[in-house]
Amino acid sequence: MTILPLALLFLLPLAFAQRTTSNPLAATSTSPAGAAASATALNEPPDGQLYFGLWLDTSVTSGDSPLAANARVGRNISWFQFSQNIPVDQYNDVTGVGGIINATKVTETDTDAGIYVTVYPLNGLAAVTVQDMAALGIQLQSYIAAGHAVCLRFAPEMNGNWFPYATQPTLFKSTWITLYNTVKQSCPSCAFVWSPNAAVGYPYGITLDSVASAADQAALDTNNDGQLDNTDDAYAAYYPGDAYVDWNGVSYYYKGNYPNDYNVIQPQGFFEGSMNGVLPEVDEIGQQRTQYTPFYNAYCMKHPCMLSESGASWKVNQTGIPDWLTVSPTQEQVEGAWWRDGITNITFLSTYPRLKMIMNFEWEKVETDGGIPTLRDFRLTNATDVLAAFVADLEGVAQRYLWASYVAPPPSGSGGGGGSNPLPQVPMPQASVTRATPYRATTPTVLSLFYSAAQGWEEMRPYVFTVAAVTAGLAAGVGLVL
Ligand SMILES: *[C@@H]1O[C@H](CO)[C@@H](O)[C@H](O)[C@H]1NC(C)=O
Ligand SMILES: *[C@@H]1O[C@H](CO)[C@@H](O)[C@H](O)[C@H]1NC(C)=O
Ligand SMILES: *[C@@H]1O[C@H](CO)[C@@H](O)[C@H](O)[C@H]1NC(C)=O
Ligand SMILES: *[C@@H]1O[C@H](CO)[C@@H](O)[C@H](O)[C@H]1NC(C)=O
Ligand SMILES: *[C@@H]1O[C@H](CO)[C@@H](O)[C@H](O)[C@H]1NC(C)=O
Repeated sequence: MTILPLALLFLLPLAFAQRTTSNPLAATSTSPAGAAASATALNEPPDGQLYFGLWLDTSVTSGDSPLAANARVGRNISWFQFSQNIPVDQYNDVTGVGGIINATKVTETDTDAGIYVTVYPLNGLAAVTVQDMAALGIQLQSYIAAGHAVCLRFAPEMNGNWFPYATQPTLFKSTWITLYNTVKQSCPSCAFVWSPNAAVGYPYGITLDSVASAADQAALDTNNDGQLDNTDDAYAAYYPGDAYVDWNGVSYYYKGNYPNDYNVIQPQGFFEGSMNGVLPEVDEIGQQRTQYTPFYNAYCMKHPCMLSESGASWKVNQTGIPDWLTVSPTQEQVEGAWWRDGITNITFLSTYPRLKMIMNFEWEKVETDGGIPTLRDFRLTNATDVLAAFVADLEGVAQRYLWASYVAPPPSGSGGGGGSNPLPQVPMPQASVTRATPYRATTPTVLSLFYSAAQGWEEMRPYVFTVAAVTAGLAAGVGLVL
């Protein structure tokens, strides 16, 4: 048994760098050296350009996929988002729920689209161990080795009150920093995305007494007036520091008017609220123009920024239509107002040039945030009239966006053999693991992705990574046990 220094693990992806350097999506992500040589952040597109991403519902019931989305839009989407829990929960063979993300959904597009991994600590921040973090780093590095840039968004919307890890700024920040230090050891080109919920609406009904620790209460009461309200900074208490993030982002949605159960077109300039924190005035419902914590100047200058998840909600089964709304808008009008206000709005994009990624939440789901369960469709690429109008408007600004590029299909089988320029495999599924034992193991145990007979790595098998090795390695400079 020999110990291969982790430095060698970093070098492995360089063997595939030739394929990726022609593409800006991958150029800054393939090697730490590439990132250092550039003035831009990890995975940052050049000035004047931004990425468009989709968070698709790839569940078994929906059956949607990046491949299908690219076909619908007629363009190769730059980034695809997926989520998993940390520690990773069991993969359910029947429902397809759980486990680590299925990156094959991206590799099968034959593009270099980025893989955007949202990681939820749904058992609470205290349940996340350094071993879990190390396993995550190894998993993510496998995607970079396969030619895909990676973004990691940990514990998003931590400033809200709807996740188990909410309103714990002290523990959130210390966990974030440990995660950053751990993951960057195996995945130095993973871009960390810090991403609270947009301030509009803050503090979302959270009161100081509902915050468990006195230190956290003090941290959240940023103006020190003994209460939590929209004059407190919605973000600062949770920010781990410039040294520990690569991108900043926010979640931002248009859900309508409280209780968010009927269809209404957003006021123009609403999209901009994600950046300047302004909730526009709406006469019909007596809503005043309100200033919340601005995002752009504080969080988009040192790092590029993004809308990490965003969208406007079409209420499929709307109720409670008010008298003043004499004509109910169509889905195309509701969604169109959203993208024309932001995604395809050159004025907006030019006003906020550091906004370098917009990720649409491409789902239909039941939400209950107004107290009335409502089926909401955020998708821009599903209903045919909405899709056609979106694609037509996108055409006008298509040069502004940096799309994913074609790459040769990965070889079939467990690596090597196919194509003149074979790629390493993403770590699933493992044929040797029976259905009874989920192959999406809690900890990746076999780095099959580095196996490629054609590349001559065969003698390096098996790439057995045990939790013990990772743990011992973290303590002693990190080693890969062969
Ligand atoms: C992962 O995605 C690929 C490509 O869509 C699919 O063939 C495979 O069955 C998926 N694996 C799981 C476990 O869902
Ligand atoms: C485009 O964005 C600007 C700046 O936010 C906004 O004032 C304008 O109303 C938007 N245009 C549309 C069509 O929504
Ligand atoms: C809308 O449909 C969803 C899903 O079918 C259901 O859960 C919800 O109760 C319905 N809401 C209303 C207001 O009908
Ligand atoms: C739209 O979504 C539904 C499921 O909600 C699906 O059955 C249908 O195939 C989708 N249509 C397109 C064009 O993607
Ligand atoms: C998108 O990628 C596919 C597969 O790599 C390629 O065949 C196609 O030409 C690309 N489409 C565009 C519009 O770039």
